[in-house]
Amino acid sequence: RDGVFKYYSDGMWKTSSSGKSVPIINPTTRKTYFKVQACTQEEVNKVMDTAKIAQKSWARTPLWKRAELLHKAAAVLKEHKAPIAECLVKEIAKPAKDAVTEVVRSGDLVSYCAEEGVRILGEGKFLVSDSFPGNERTKYCLTSKIPLGVVLAIPPFNYPVNLAVSKIAPALIAGNSLVLKPPTQGAVAALHMVHCFHLAGFPKGLISCVTGKGSEIGDFLTMHPGVNCISFTGGDTGIAISKKAGMIPLQMELGGKDACIILEDADLDLAAVNIVKGGFSYSGQRCTAVKVVLVMESVADALVEKVKAKVAKLTVGSPEDDCDITPVVTESSANFIEGLVMDAKQKGATFCQEYKREGNLIWPLLLDHVRPDMRIAWEEPFGPVLPVIRISSVEEGIHHCNASNFGLQGCIFTRDINKAILISDAMETGTVQINSAPARGPDHFPFQGLKDSGIGSQGITNSINMMTKIKSTVINLP
Ligand code: G3P
Repeated sequence: RDGVFKYYSDGMWKTSSSGKSVPIINPTTRKTYFKVQACTQEEVNKVMDTAKIAQKSWARTPLWKRAELLHKAAAVLKEHKAPIAECLVKEIAKPAKDAVTEVVRSGDLVSYCAEEGVRILGEGKFLVSDSFPGNERTKYCLTSKIPLGVVLAIPPFNYPVNLAVSKIAPALIAGNSLVLKPPTQGAVAALHMVHCFHLAGFPKGLISCVTGKGSEIGDFLTMHPGVNCISFTGGDTGIAISKKAGMIPLQMELGGKDACIILEDADLDLAAVNIVKGGFSYSGQRCTAVKVVLVMESVADALVEKVKAKVAKLTVGSPEDDCDITPVVTESSANFIEGLVMDAKQKGATFCQEYKREGNLIWPLLLDHVRPDMRIAWEEPFGPVLPVIRISSVEEGIHHCNASNFGLQGCIFTRDINKAILISDAMETGTVQINSAPARGPDHFPFQGLKDSGIGSQGITNSINMMTKIKSTVINLP
């Protein structure tokens, strides 16, 4: 624990020449729990060089062998679920049960990706020239999907394992090499996950994991000429990356303000369960969390009472005890959340519970009668605070949803499927859930954000395709 975890380069665990480390503060104790290397730009250069070399032979490795190694990594990951989950508990205060679920889900994602990769990368197209006017059948075109080269993966703190493998596995099955820059909070869980790939026997240099301060190596990584693709999940750093990155494919998932629209004919019990699950699991630190409830005035009192009753049953405390609500990831995050709460208080929101905070632990809070002039109506708290806005028409709900800069997911509760589809079509979000809370999983579903919520589309198949490009070979007949 007082050692500094090494970074992974060229198939070995190494200590940085910087002699410096980055502390990982346990959100619950607010004390340093782990330390990781503060890697230098020179070490990043070395990682990029080995990644480029290793990728050449990896691309020539038969597809079935690439898949076989991924299946091995998936199995090793699941065997190591307990120690990795323990890191998630200590580094990001993820409730113990959810932490194990994240690791198992990650193993399943890697395996599914191996199978899907064999399917979609194992086929191409065969085109003949005379299907286009003016041509004879003298040209045969064979297409295939080839790798991009070196993929830089930057996952967020809230899923440092699952949102890492959701980038790593597609990159590898497609024949790319992979450089991972994990979040500071969650870095040791990520390093342990990388060790599982190491144990599975991937070629040296194909996978690397560098840790360190964003201020020292962040831009250096994302603007590095050796990077051929960036897959980033996180906050608005992604917008900065998109402005600085070169002419390379970008896959970005940047957060959201997922709206939950409740119609007058909604099953309010079902809605209440999903609002509490969607709004408060992992203390609201999910990009797909329910972040604003837009409820028709006529059923608002009944809905708020049902949600209040369920919020009262949420357990609050340490992740080791599997509490529903655990400390948010950093003190600065807790302060940001508090700022939104105080703004709402000052502007007259109705507090359904007393606001309570101890260190990074914030008790779940439902704010009713929220109005559009309050920051919480638009900003993403990434915490256990949920605003309720009462609407007098469905159009008002759709308008509020579409007025947001975000467009990740949304959800609708109604018994009228026709109405649900029409509202879904009108919502400018990448996904709309009907009669359930927003969620990224299952991980083979497409997952994309519109507007400021991201670039490109994730989900296993889309990620594999995005990490390849098309190669055409044309046979010209005499
Ligand atoms: O916050 C990251 C986003 O991917 C959430 O995933 O599975 O909790 O909906 P999930």
